[in-house]
Amino acid sequence: MASKLFPAAPRAGRQFFQSLSKTQCRPFSAGPQRYSDTLSVHRNNPHNNPSIPFKFSEQNLKVVDEILNRYPPQYKKAAVMPILDLGQRQHGFTSISVMNEVARLLEMPPMRVYEVATFYTMYNREPVGKYFVQLCTTTPCQLGGCGSTKIVEAIQEHLGITSGHSTEDGLFTYLEVECLGACVNAPMVQINDEYYEDLTPESMKALLTALKDSATTGAQLPKPGPVSGRQTCENSAGLTNLVEPVWDPETMMRTDGALDQPAQQ
Ligand code: FES
Repeated sequence: MASKLFPAAPRAGRQFFQSLSKTQCRPFSAGPQRYSDTLSVHRNNPHNNPSIPFKFSEQNLKVVDEILNRYPPQYKKAAVMPILDLGQRQHGFTSISVMNEVARLLEMPPMRVYEVATFYTMYNREPVGKYFVQLCTTTPCQLGGCGSTKIVEAIQEHLGITSGHSTEDGLFTYLEVECLGACVNAPMVQINDEYYEDLTPESMKALLTALKDSATTGAQLPKPGPVSGRQTCENSAGLTNLVEPVWDPETMMRTDGALDQPAQQ
């Protein structure tokens, strides 16, 4: 009855509420917020600021020339990644001075070099310890072997630091990272340029002790690769296939004995 007497009332009310301004809330990312004490921007500090000079050594300048020779002269900026890596190896980390020197050498705007160095996690923009311990905690390493969670606990217990921190003696920096491409030997860790695989909490602690001994007494560094006795990534339970010669028509059908003779040099 009311809508017959005032037919426009509901519509007017609806239009009134629709015309009220709504608060627009649009998040930048659908992923969970990530809190970290690592700055994604550069801030000058006493050990990392543009007034600290950096030049490539004579020896590394030869390597720079060799790298640049791989690219046409007009595309020398394509060499930014290997030359940044070379700078990091010489200086210990990719400081702002390293980035500026690379930009100067490659005739690039410094901002373009900063963009590369801040995008790839292989460039450490702060100093790291003598041994940079990067533990893979991605799903296959979390599930494989004893699981990377146990290795995390072993490292934290042995070194007394958590991910993203260095020991006070400057020997170790420890970081949890994503897949390093050796999932079949999970769990695994990268220390500097070497992979150590098939880890257990005990072998991880033994490895850290051996590295410390090597730094203090000059003992030989542990051999990289699987610490379980595997050669590479073969089945640890032994061969389960290809255990006898593969059927080959030529071998099976030739009866003249020619294939049994040693090959003539
Ligand atoms: S998941 Fe750890 S190496 Fe791939």
